[in-house]
Amino acid sequence: MSKLRIANLSPHLSHFFLALAALLFVLTGAHAQTRPNVMILATGGTIAGTGATSTTTVGYTAAKIGVDQLIAAVPELAKVANVKGEQVFQIASESMTNEHWLTLGKRVNALLAQSDVDGIVITHGTDTTEETAYFLNLVVKSRKPVVLVGAMRPSTALSADGPINLYNAVAIAGSRDAVGKGVLVAFNDQIHFARDVSKTNTSTPDAFKTPELGLAGYIQGGKPFFYRTTARKHTVDTEFDIANLNALPQVDIVYGYANMSPVALDAFIAAGAKGIIHAGVGNGSLAARVKPALIAARKKGTFIVRASRVGQGILARNGEANDDELDFVAADTLNPQKARILLMLALTKTNNTAEIQRMFYTY
Ligand code: SIN
Repeated sequence: MSKLRIANLSPHLSHFFLALAALLFVLTGAHAQTRPNVMILATGGTIAGTGATSTTTVGYTAAKIGVDQLIAAVPELAKVANVKGEQVFQIASESMTNEHWLTLGKRVNALLAQSDVDGIVITHGTDTTEETAYFLNLVVKSRKPVVLVGAMRPSTALSADGPINLYNAVAIAGSRDAVGKGVLVAFNDQIHFARDVSKTNTSTPDAFKTPELGLAGYIQGGKPFFYRTTARKHTVDTEFDIANLNALPQVDIVYGYANMSPVALDAFIAAGAKGIIHAGVGNGSLAARVKPALIAARKKGTFIVRASRVGQGILARNGEANDDELDFVAADTLNPQKARILLMLALTKTNNTAEIQRMFYTY
C-alpha cells in the first residue's frame, strides 16, 4: 500500500521539484540582474601592497597588486554587486598629485554619467585618502555613491584588512542608502564623510576617524547604516567644474611651530604659489617673525588662508589675526591639507577674498 502511494506521488514530486528549480532559476537570474553595477577604480596603496612575509605589516611595498587580483581575492563581492575593475594608477598615495586628481575626477564623472554604473569604489593608499576624497567631494557631478577604501595592512599580511574593507565599500557603493551623501570613506566597518575624516594613526587598522563631528554610519552584514547627513554642500551642489581643467593653481602649506621663520613661505612665494595655507599653532596664530612676510605676500597677490595644525575646532575669523584688515581667509574646520584643496578650486573661480571665505563656510 505504501509502495503504491510513493509510486503514485513520484510524478507529482518530480513536477514539484522541476517547478521549484525553474522558480529558483528565474528568481536567481532576476536577482543577478537587479544587483547594482559597481565599478572599482584602483589607484594603488597598501591595499594593493605586498610584504616579504605574512607578518610584514611595516616595510612592505605599496601598489603591487592589480585590480583584477584585488577583485579575485574577494569572490563574495559577487553577492552584493556586479563588479568591474579598472586600473587608473598604480602608486603609493604619498605620490598623488593635482594631475592625478584631475584625471581621476574626470574618469569618475564620465563613469557616473553612464546608466550602467550605479556606484564607484576607489581603492587608494591611506596616506592621502582624505585629500582625494575631499577633492572628489567637491568636483564629482553625480549623486551616485563614490566610496574610497584602502587598507592599513598589505594584501600578504595575516589578518589583512583590505578584503573586508573592499567588500564593505562595494556594498556601500551599490546601496541606495548611500545616494546623495557625498563622497564617502569606508574603513574598519565605519563610514565617514569626505570633508571631515582624517587618518589619525600611522599603522593600526582603525586609523580613520572623524573626531568630534562624528561618523556618517556603520556597515554591518553587508548593509550600510547611516545616522547623519553632512551639512556642507558637495558633489552636484558645488560650483566647481573640472571638465576643462588641465592644472590647478599652485597652493602650498607652511607649518607653524615654535621658532618658525619665513624661509619656507618665501620659497613657496618665489616658486609661484598663488595661495598659501598657514597651518598655524592654536587658533591659527601668526608668529611675529612670519606675519610681515604673510602680509607682504598678500599685498603682492598671493591668497592667504589661516588654518590650524591642532586638528579640531573652528578657525576663528578675526580671532588671532584681523582677517578683514589683512585680507586673509579663515579655514573654518578644514584641516590644512583639505584647505589647500578648497583654495585651489576656489582660485579656479574667483580672485575675491570675500568669495573665497564664503566658499570656506559653504563646503
Ligand atoms: C599609501 O598611502 O599609498 C601607503 C600607505 C597606505 O596605503 O596605508
